[in-house]
Amino acid sequence: MSRVLLGVSGGIAAYKACELCRLLVKDGHDVVPLVTPGAERFVTAETFRALARRPPGDDVYLHLTRADLFVVAPCTANTLAKLAHGLADNVLTEAALAHRGPVLVAPAMNPRMWSHPATRANAEALRARGVVLVGPDEGETAEGELGVGRMAEPDEILRAARTLLVGTGPLSGKRVLVAAGGTREPLDAVRFVGNRSSGRMGVALAAEARRRGAEVTLLAANLAVAAPAGVELVETPTAAELEREALARAAEADVVVMAAAVADYRPAEALAAKRPKDATTWTLELEPTTDVLSSLGERRRNGQLLVGFAAETGPAGLERAREKLANKGADLFVLNDVSRTDIGFDAYENEVTLLTPAGERTVAKAPKDEIAAAILDEVEALLRNG
Ligand code: CTP
Repeated sequence: MSRVLLGVSGGIAAYKACELCRLLVKDGHDVVPLVTPGAERFVTAETFRALARRPPGDDVYLHLTRADLFVVAPCTANTLAKLAHGLADNVLTEAALAHRGPVLVAPAMNPRMWSHPATRANAEALRARGVVLVGPDEGETAEGELGVGRMAEPDEILRAARTLLVGTGPLSGKRVLVAAGGTREPLDAVRFVGNRSSGRMGVALAAEARRRGAEVTLLAANLAVAAPAGVELVETPTAAELEREALARAAEADVVVMAAAVADYRPAEALAAKRPKDATTWTLELEPTTDVLSSLGERRRNGQLLVGFAAETGPAGLERAREKLANKGADLFVLNDVSRTDIGFDAYENEVTLLTPAGERTVAKAPKDEIAAAILDEVEALLRNG
C-alpha cells in the first residue's frame, strides 16, 4: 500500500479535494491529510480525517510522516510561492520540506494571479525541481471570471498520482494476471450451470497486487463484488472465454493467479433460444472443459510463477491439494475448505493452507484481504528465490 500525503491549502477548490481524498482511499492508498489553517475556512480537517479513515488524533510529528507521494490540491498562489521558496510556516509547508519523493501540485487560483510573472516563476522553479503540476484548467472560476486557474478535476489528479506511484512497492515492474469469480456455462439463452464463487478472494488478490505496485489484469467471471480500481478488467463469463483470455495474456505475465472457480464441465449443447417449459424430463449432457491451470503450466516461460487454488471439502483435501500442486505444474497452491460456511465460497473470511514443493503452512482465519496479503508475501518470497 502506498502512503500519500494530501496537502490542502485555502481556496474554494478545497471542497473538491474531499473527492480526491475519497478517490485516493478507494484506490487503495493510505492517505494522510494535511489541512492548512487557511483551508479550514472552507472545509474542516475532520472531514478529511473521516474520508481518509484516520482516527482523530493530534500527531505533532504529522509533517515528518514518510510517504511515497506528496499531493498538494488545491495549491493556492500563496502556498505555491511558499513551496517554491522553502517556507515552512504550517503543517503543509513543513511536510513539503521534510518530504523526499515525488510531489504533485494542483494549482487553483484566480486567472490573473496564475498569469502573474511571480507565480509563473514560482511554478517554473517547482517544475525545475521535478515537481509535477497538473492543471490549472481553463474555465469559469468561483468568482465568475473566465481564464486559466481552476483546479484540475479530482479524477485527473488521481490519474497523475497513479503515474507517479508506479515504480513504488515490492511488486513494481511485475505483471500479475488474476482470474477471479465463477464461470457460468449456458444451457440456453437464459439459464446456466454455475457455482457459488463470489470472486472476493481473487478481487482481494488483485487489489493487494496493485497496492504492491504490480500492473494487474483481472479476468472477471461473474463477480459479485466490485473490481478494484487501477486494474485492467477483462470480463470472462464462461470457461471458454476465461481459457482464451488466460492463454492469450499469460505470456506477458510474471505471476498468474488462478483463483477462479472454472467449470469442470459445460453443457455439450447450449440452446440458442430459451427452452420452453413442458412436461418432459430435460436431460443434460455435460462435456469436460479445458483445465486452464494445467495448460498454463505446460506452456509457461522461465521465471513465471503459477498459483492455483484447491477448493476441497473435508480433511482429505490436503492430500488432494498436494496432488494438484504436483500434477498441474504450479509453484504454489492455496487450499481452502469449501465445505465450511464461515470461510471459502462467498464468505468474507478465509483460512487457507499454502503449499509449495518446499513446504506447507496454514494462514489463520482472517478477512480475505489479509489472506491475500499472506499469499502475496509467499509469491514475493518465491520470486526472490526463483
Ligand atoms: N482450474 C482451471 N481450469 C478448470 C478447472 C480448474 O484452471 N477447468 C483451476 C482453478 O482455477 C484452480 C485449480 O485449477 O486454481 C484447482 O481447481 P479445483 O476445482 O480445485 O480442482 P480440479 O482440478 O478441477 O479438481 P476437482 O474438481 O476434481 O477437485
